[in-house]
Amino acid sequence: MTSLTSNLAGPLSGEARVPGDKSISHRALMLGALAVGQSEIHGLLEGQDVMCTARALRALGAEVERGNDGLWRVQGVGVGGLCEPATTLEMGNAGTAARLLMGVVATHPITCQFTGDESLNGRPMGRIAEPLMRMGARIIARDGCRLPLTVIGARDPLAVVYPPPVPSAQVKSAVLLAALNTPGETTVIEAAPTRDHTEHMLRYFGAELRLAPANGGGAAITVTGQPELEGQKIEVPGDPSSAAFAVAAALIVPGSTLILRNIGVNPLRAGLYDSLREMGADIEFCEPRERGGEPIADIVVRAGGLRGIDVPASRAPTMIDEYPILAVVAACAEGVTVMRGLAELRIKESDRLAAMAEGLAACGVGVEAGEDYLVVEGRGGPPPGGGAIATRLDHRIAMAFLVLGMASEKPVTIDDGASMETSFPGFAALLNGLGANIA
Ligand code: S3P
Repeated sequence: MTSLTSNLAGPLSGEARVPGDKSISHRALMLGALAVGQSEIHGLLEGQDVMCTARALRALGAEVERGNDGLWRVQGVGVGGLCEPATTLEMGNAGTAARLLMGVVATHPITCQFTGDESLNGRPMGRIAEPLMRMGARIIARDGCRLPLTVIGARDPLAVVYPPPVPSAQVKSAVLLAALNTPGETTVIEAAPTRDHTEHMLRYFGAELRLAPANGGGAAITVTGQPELEGQKIEVPGDPSSAAFAVAAALIVPGSTLILRNIGVNPLRAGLYDSLREMGADIEFCEPRERGGEPIADIVVRAGGLRGIDVPASRAPTMIDEYPILAVVAACAEGVTVMRGLAELRIKESDRLAAMAEGLAACGVGVEAGEDYLVVEGRGGPPPGGGAIATRLDHRIAMAFLVLGMASEKPVTIDDGASMETSFPGFAALLNGLGANIA
């Protein structure tokens, strides 16, 4: 355990790049492995979660290597070409990797075992197993459909029309990836849109994908099975969910101005920025441009007066990973912030609703957590701080409370900073270089 303490920061200033997008990095490696020929990935997130994906794909027969030039090269085996791994696939803390790879292997005639760390082994996999079993895979899991589990891939996969019961990009993506080695057309019907990186990247690699409006305002996404995917060059944008911590720090440490370069600003990931602007934040997306179908921009953010808001449940899919850091900003704002529709937060890397409520209370912030909502009483200035935070193997809880410490009267200590390596290697050094004081 590496405990870290975040002390009051001076104004933050300067410019920075954050590590590559975690969601896009996983998908780039997976589609590279399923393509014919070589893919070259620039800016891949070299965090533990993505390294789990790289290792698993090697065990499944793809070549995945990092060159001395920092580029990652993947030699794909073609759709349907993965082979049975000789050992259990160790997924660490990586929920997205485990769930998307379950989809990939479910329509290969191979058997794969998946396991993870204590956090991942506690997370529900039934939402993934259910559609994959409809497609012909067999899945043997512990009680509650949790890891460790075994996927026995379908020899003759069946195309399905599947409406996920929860808004989840992981469920959608697992089905779309399983559809690749399934004859015919597979459709996922989303009631509310979730991040669409899989769709962008499938098209980019040459898959046939159709979007159509569905009843009730959702969308039907249809993939034609057994395409020939071709290796591609991919530039991974900076992760907006990682940039969020630096943006929040700049907003709550008085006198700060930061520029964050090359950040993904896909509207289906940008709900945090909508919420922060409603709170009165000064945030600009400069020089908007596109890379491989993904919108990116430089983000300029300046500290300033913030007020509490009511964040509607409908916004949850576009800011699902950002509630911990929004709760920290809300603690420093003037007035009350109410966040609704948060049931999914209970089954992330930790129970994030409980972790935030407990940690904010330990830092002297008024907070109320319900089954699916969080109410934070803003202090209209520096919160008392001084809490000792249990991070529960959750990188976003760790980073959120280190940011809170930067603007609090007393230092905030987290029990373990190691989890940050999953998504944001070098977090403390990067923030310290901008004016933070994390030791
Ligand atoms: C992700 C989807 C989201 C998100 C996770 C990454 C993805 O999970 O929380 O960090 O890359 O598809 P859900 O699909 O469970 O909402």
